[in-house]
Amino acid sequence: MAMASSASVSVSGRGGGFLLPAAVLLAVAVVHARGAPCVPRVFSFGDSLADTGNFPFLYGNDSREPALRTPYGETFFRRATGRFSDGRLIVDFIADTMGLPFVRPYLSGRTAEDFASGANFAVGGAMALGPDFFRGRGVPMGDRMHLDVEMKWFHDLLDLLCPADRADCTGMMNQSLFLVGEIGGNDYNIPLLSRVPFEKIRTFTPSVVAKISSTVTELIGLGAKTLVVPGNLPIGCVPNYLMIFKSDKKEDYELETGCLRWMNEFSKYHNRLLIDELEKLRKFHRGVSIIYADYYGAAMEIYRSPEQFGGSLLLCSL
Ligand SMILES: *[C@@H]1O[C@H](CO)[C@@H](O)[C@H](O)[C@H]1NC(C)=O
Ligand SMILES: *[C@@H]1O[C@H](CO)[C@@H](O)[C@H](O)[C@H]1NC(C)=O
Repeated sequence: MAMASSASVSVSGRGGGFLLPAAVLLAVAVVHARGAPCVPRVFSFGDSLADTGNFPFLYGNDSREPALRTPYGETFFRRATGRFSDGRLIVDFIADTMGLPFVRPYLSGRTAEDFASGANFAVGGAMALGPDFFRGRGVPMGDRMHLDVEMKWFHDLLDLLCPADRADCTGMMNQSLFLVGEIGGNDYNIPLLSRVPFEKIRTFTPSVVAKISSTVTELIGLGAKTLVVPGNLPIGCVPNYLMIFKSDKKEDYELETGCLRWMNEFSKYHNRLLIDELEKLRKFHRGVSIIYADYYGAAMEIYRSPEQFGGSLLLCSL
């Protein structure tokens, strides 16, 4: 199996809510004929960009969360599935490309057979860091999902799949694909929305990247051999932010896209730190494939040429 770390994209329908600008197809080039899956399982961690339906199990079907009602889900599943998208997510396209069923939300399964093709631990709204990190820095933070909880669920699943000895899972771990993220976006979104000064939010990035790194390291310690780690999106193109941080100064906007320059610079800063960190991890873990997925570049193709992807994304995704 080989995966391209640069991606091409296409978009289906209108953008979703705030946390997910649109259903983005990450074209993963898998050098393998359709038929027998080249990877028997996918395990996924992250936030709304990857949640295939854990959200309603945690927060209830009757929560006022818009993602639990149409138009979410309408273009593909024809019903709201808990995905924060009108269509499929990147993780859905990855599973599909590998000839696997859509990755089952961890909270929707019970038995080892339920997880025969993997499990998805991502939850809409999840953060990389736990709430204590933010509270310790004077940033108000309610109880939220975060990577440590998702990793705890993963350990619980290993207890189910290899109860006698973790070594019994070695063959499963070394053949599985691990999608670690996107995660970390909400570590910035939530403080941004409660108007924490941007200079302060920028100081969180090394800790966010360190958390992603320690999670990847833990998975490798458990036997993972193939990991895909996505970066952050160009958040300066998110309609909600374009409204909230509206500016009279022309220089605050990118000429080509009309996105907020300083915010996109921030996403690039996060991604640069993440890319450097992954490079360090590769040196420590020879024989492990750690693939950076360029969600920023993939999404920018859409913002640069929306007409190529069937619409004017910036206008219709509130
Ligand atoms: C939510 O409601 C649907 C339809 O009634 C049901 O099929 C689904 O199992 C429920 N999900 C949860 C998490 O309770
Ligand atoms: C994966 O683990 C199994 C069980 O320990 C082992 O037999 C196999 O050779 C390993 N495969 C790779 C590619 O490391």
